[in-house]
Amino acid sequence: MMKKLTGILMSSLFLISAVWAAGGTTVDPNMEQLGMRLYNDKNMSFNGTQSCRNCHHHFSGFADITNHLDPYANFVSTGADGVSKGGRNAPSAAYAGYSPILKKKSSEWVGGMFWDGRAAGWVLGDPLAEQAQGPPLNPVEMGMPDKQTVINVINDSDYRDLWITVFGSGSLGDAEAAYDNFGRAIAAFERSTDVTKFSSKFDVAQLSDVEQAGQVLFEANCASCHSTTAAFGAEAPLFTNYKYANLGVPANPEIPSEGADLDLGLGPVVDDDAQNGKFKIPTLRNIALSAPYSHNGLFPTLMEMLQFINNRSDFTPEVPYNLSEDVGNLGLSQEALENIEAFLMTLTDDY
Ligand code: HEC
Ligand code: HEC
Repeated sequence: MMKKLTGILMSSLFLISAVWAAGGTTVDPNMEQLGMRLYNDKNMSFNGTQSCRNCHHHFSGFADITNHLDPYANFVSTGADGVSKGGRNAPSAAYAGYSPILKKKSSEWVGGMFWDGRAAGWVLGDPLAEQAQGPPLNPVEMGMPDKQTVINVINDSDYRDLWITVFGSGSLGDAEAAYDNFGRAIAAFERSTDVTKFSSKFDVAQLSDVEQAGQVLFEANCASCHSTTAAFGAEAPLFTNYKYANLGVPANPEIPSEGADLDLGLGPVVDDDAQNGKFKIPTLRNIALSAPYSHNGLFPTLMEMLQFINNRSDFTPEVPYNLSEDVGNLGLSQEALENIEAFLMTLTDDY
């Protein structure tokens, strides 16, 4: 039923994006506003039906709203054509801006964007800006033919003047350079406090006894990967260390491409078999809103994801080697999992 889917920078701009990439506080409100308009503009898809927001909606923690409404039926996102499916579950666009440029530290890879890190940040000096350049031109997402067509949309839009204010007159002349700025503006919006809010119960209020019990269990079993200390320039924990691990998530049989080719995650991106099966450790902020779970959306509910992390013995991993031994055999009771779930529910913004 479903089809198989399968420069030179101006030094000032480079500096700005480098500051942002480091989680600094350089903010241009006009650029954030412009990024918001671009993020929400459905004309950025070939048939005018899809913007970034379709797959990264605030109601679903900036993950896919359609999947959120029916996680049993829609485990991976549907493209602007209404049919095409990618092979992966849309992660949240919030808090992604703290992920550093993809880099190997001792033997472990850190940073980059996407579940497999392939928007590395090596071109623009900012993985988030680089990522934003992907979807409009992706045939199974927004399906625009080329960069010039995207820039034409901006030229014809009612936010053209705002663009000129931010990037200067003549900045729409060269499609290549303008498309880099397109990525930077969207990244500025995604990093803004409209998206990356730090306003959850965890951030602003006292936790209940059950939530605190969950927090203790979380510290012991999860925080080695879903870090609970503020890092990467963030003001509060991001619940990820932006590293990669293979939890042993099974293939999702509903994704046609998964049967034929294994999804090897980071391995092919860095050309290293020792990284096969590893996916980026996601933030857990707003996790209660972003069902379904895991890189291929196999787990429709948060509890099913937690039960798998606790005990994976009944599951066949898609990539049965390079497996992390830090999950899958935790020996937690159902009550303990419910406490952890209660703690995770305190990570939803706008408390
Ligand atoms: C058709 C649905 C769809 C659309 C439209 C879409 N995305 Fe995504 N997005 C996804 C999927 C699926 C992934 C994960 C892909 C992967 O990891 O291979 C993703 C990944 C991301 C990530 C990476 C987050 C992380 O932590 O690695 C960001 C950020 C993001 N998208 C932002 C955007 C922006 C900005 C736009 C608009 C320019 C956009 N997306 C349009 C589905 C979509
Ligand atoms: C070894 C590092 C590691 C540990 C320890 C770990 N996780 Fe994760 N977690 C990951 C990775 C990697 C993924 C993504 C795996 C995938 O999709 O293949 C993930 C995914 C998740 C998801 C789904 C996120 C989403 O957006 O779909 C949840 C929820 C989660 N973990 C919670 C926990 C909890 C709770 C614990 C402790 C009981 C825990 N994790 C322990 C690395 C870890």
